[in-house]
Amino acid sequence: MTETAVDTRPVNLILLGPPGAGKGTQARMLEESFGLVQLSTGDLLRGAVAAGTEAGLAAKAVMEKGELVSDEIVLAVLKERLAQPDVAAGTILDGFPRTAGQAAALDALLAERGEKIDAVISLKVQDEAMVERVSGRFTCAGCGEGYHDSFKQPARPGVCDKCGGTEMKRRADDNAETVRTRLQAYHADTAPLIDYYAARGTLTEVDAMAEIGRVRAEMEAIVGKLTAA
Ligand code: AP5
Ligand code: MG
Repeated sequence: MTETAVDTRPVNLILLGPPGAGKGTQARMLEESFGLVQLSTGDLLRGAVAAGTEAGLAAKAVMEKGELVSDEIVLAVLKERLAQPDVAAGTILDGFPRTAGQAAALDALLAERGEKIDAVISLKVQDEAMVERVSGRFTCAGCGEGYHDSFKQPARPGVCDKCGGTEMKRRADDNAETVRTRLQAYHADTAPLIDYYAARGTLTEVDAMAEIGRVRAEMEAIVGKLTAA
């Protein structure tokens, strides 16, 4: 009988894209479909702000302005999260890395774990769509499921499809002025990572102007090949 080596190494995926591109929306769907774990540095930082930790206190004002939090703080919250056992199957990095320094630190961090980046998906969207997407967004306070005033309403108004919760919330940085600063930060510091990952052959671009279900199907086709490999 011949033995077949089974690769059980975790799959690690990066979602790159400007504010409102749909990183969070798609990451939650990929979690459901593939059992990977969404790691959103935005969510981790908002958690730190809510908990009043030292990192949260330092990040709060920067996030409210729409600027990037320092690499040092972002890496500290990410490392803490990566130390938890539920990430064993693999991760969907949502909103990280966002600078060249973070990308280099991520390579080193994964190498220490005997892991690597398996794919980078760049969500392509037009800047003009971003303000509408972000200013219409709301999420369930209970489970974090994301919705939109025009593009993704819950089936029963005011009631979360996922958990039945009735408290919805909006983010403090989701206003037109801050979105513009966030977009500038994206173009200055994060968009250059598209070339960085394209040069390694790990990048795939997805048209994120399409309807949510179509974007999902395209993303699932990409991730399906990785998890089947
Ligand atoms: P973060 O929380 O990551 O915010 P962001 O990058 O600005 O991205 P968003 O969460 O706004 O957008 P998204 O792409 O997740 O879109 P979503 O799926 O919700 O970061 C916040 C702040 O934290 C940063 O500004 C920075 O200060 C700090 N920070 C975080 N990470 C950092 C890092 N690594 N380094 C330094 N600082 C960091 O979709 C948006 C809306 O559109 C939703 O309502 C959704 O329903 C709708 N929608 C989604 N897809 C579609 C579609 N295809 N068609 C129509 N509507 C759609
Ligand atoms: Mg998000």
